[in-house]
Formats: sequence, structure tokens, C-alpha cells
Amino acid sequence: MALAIRAEGIYKSFRSGWWGQRRKEVLKGVDLQVEQGEIFGILGPNGAGKTTLLSILSTLLFPDRGKVEILGIDGLRDGHRIREKVNISSGNANFLWSLSVRENLHFYGMLYGLTGKAREEKVKALIEFFDLKGHEHVPFDRLSTGMKQRLSLAKSMLNDPQMLFLDEPTVGLDPEVSVRIREKIRSAQRENGMTILLTTHNMREAESLCDRIAFLKEGEIVALGSAGALKRMVRIGDVVRIEFNGPISCDQIIRAEGVINCSISGDLCEIIVDEGESRLASLIAIISQGGAQIKRVSLGQTDLEDVFIEFAKGTDSDMGLRI
Ligand SMILES: Nc1ncnc2c1ncn2[C@@H]1O[C@H](COP(=O)(O)OP(=O)(O)OP(=O)(O)O)[C@@H](O)[C@H]1O
Ligand SMILES: [Mg+2]
Repeated sequence: MALAIRAEGIYKSFRSGWWGQRRKEVLKGVDLQVEQGEIFGILGPNGAGKTTLLSILSTLLFPDRGKVEILGIDGLRDGHRIREKVNISSGNANFLWSLSVRENLHFYGMLYGLTGKAREEKVKALIEFFDLKGHEHVPFDRLSTGMKQRLSLAKSMLNDPQMLFLDEPTVGLDPEVSVRIREKIRSAQRENGMTILLTTHNMREAESLCDRIAFLKEGEIVALGSAGALKRMVRIGDVVRIEFNGPISCDQIIRAEGVINCSISGDLCEIIVDEGESRLASLIAIISQGGAQIKRVSLGQTDLEDVFIEFAKGTDSDMGLRI
């Protein structure tokens, strides 16, 4: 699979302190590879360096050190060639406040070199795709936060990018609007087959949208993998609770695929597994075959938030785990 992003040893520091005499190291040797067509998420606490990393990968900022290759193009030497093929959208985007949705899209379309009928058609299609119809003549400063975010996403598709960078695309939105925006992001990605790198604090967003996720902490990637793999990594999987009658052997259950832990207390067996839904059937089969009668089964699912809390706590120096 071809790589959309290849970043090696990215370091970035900013001046800090009253007179800018100190330097604060924000990225400390980030390595990252993202495959073409992937939706890749960057999670991390405030100030972890997510936006800084996204800005470097989208060629808006230069790193102090390191290599950046986007779509096979050198990010440090040929940034202008990359910028033709990528786009960026921020949840806190600012547009020309007195121009309407339509006028803003035409303005940016012009900057991307779109002219005449082609620009007209593109703007029309994006207004429709992002459900901006009915708001197309509203000036930017009178739009709701959700509409502003849709406008920002619409703008980011003007040049049919092969790679999209999204910085907190649903920040500040209510859950219902967030879900709709995520659907738009997913269907835009499917239709164009583009690669998406997004930052988010929203665990549901990361879990539902991203093929893989990297946890950035204090400028370093401390874990990387699919949502399921990250859950397995911190061994705080889903809990399957089974009330039973008859014989149950934890020794046998613990050997089943995906089982992290097993304990029995009275007639209740608690099994910790990596992914509850997919392991449930085989656990029930093992227990039934062992001769126990199952009275009741319940499933408590861990979400990525628990994993996030786990990683955001202290990090062992050997936690640079990758799956
Ligand atoms: N232009 C800048 N000049 C000085 N310091 C900066 C600059 N940009 C970012 N920083 C600092 O770098 C650190 C990382 O910032 P960054 O915005 O990348 O974090 P983040 O992970 O995106 O945080 P958030 O979740 O709050 O968006 C912060 O301490 C921030 O204050
Ligand atoms: Mg940020």
C-alpha cells in the first residue's frame, strides 16, 4: 500500500517566556506513516502538539528537524506541489465574515484557480453535499457553529484534495450535528478515496471514523493502532458478565482468543475481553460445552475514553507500543 504520509523524526520548538528567550519543545521526534485511503486520528490532551503536527504535515509550518513526505512529495522542498493536492479544515476556521457562504466558496474557488462554469458547478455541488442550501446567502458571521464547520469542510473540498487534514472538525457541536458532519466526512472520503488525517478530543469520533489512531502526549506518540488494538494494549477491555449454574473453568476461558482476564464469584463469572461483541458467541459456546447452564449474559463495553484516560495518566517510558 502506498504511503500518503511519511514523517520521520519531527522536532518543533517555539519561543516562550516573557522575552522569548526560552524555547519550548513541542514535538520531540515524531515518526508517522499513514497509508493512502486511511482515516487516521491523532488524539491527545490539550497542548500535546496535535495542531502543530497537523500544521507541519500540511506544510503550513516548517519543522526544526525531520523529514516530511506527503503523497510522495518532499514537504520541506516542494510544499507548493503538496498544497495543490491537499486541503485543510479547522473546527475553529475563520472566513471573510461579511461574505455569504456562496461568496466565500467562490472566493476560495478563485484562489484554487477554478473559473467560470467549473467554479459555479463545484460551489453548487458542495453547497448541496454539505447541506448548506438555504444558508448560501447568509454572511459568515451570522452562521451557527455547525454551519461554519460545514462551510469550512466545503471549502476544503474545492480542489478535490487527495489528502485532507481536519483539525477538530466537530469541536463545539452538539452530538446530533457532530454525527451528521462525521457522516459527511466519511462519505466524502469514500466517494473520493482520499486520505484523512484528523485531530480530535472526541473519542466517539475517533472510534467511529478512524482506521488507526495515534496518541500524542507531550510531543511524542506514545501508542498507535486501531481502537480495538489500543484497548487491548491497556488491557481494559469489555466486561462480559455471565450468571450460571454448574461447572465453569476459568483456566479454559482464559485460553480463548481475546480473553484478558476471568474471575468467578458465586454464580457470577466476569470475563474481560478485548472486544465484547465479537467474542461473546465463542465464550457462550465454551461455557455451555463445559456443562454449565447460562442464566443471564450482560456486556459492559469499554470505550476509547477509558484508554485515553489511561494514556493521559503517567506514561511508562517503554510505552511506545505500536500495533
Ligand atoms: N505559534 C506558537 N508559538 C508559541 N507556542 C506555540 C505556538 N503554537 C503552539 N504553541 C504551543 O505548543 C504547544 C502545543 O500546541 P498545539 O496547539 O499543537 O497543541 P494541541 O495538542 O493542538 O492542543 P489542543 O488540544 O488544545 O488543540 C502548546 O503549549 C502551545 O502553547
Ligand atoms: Mg489543537
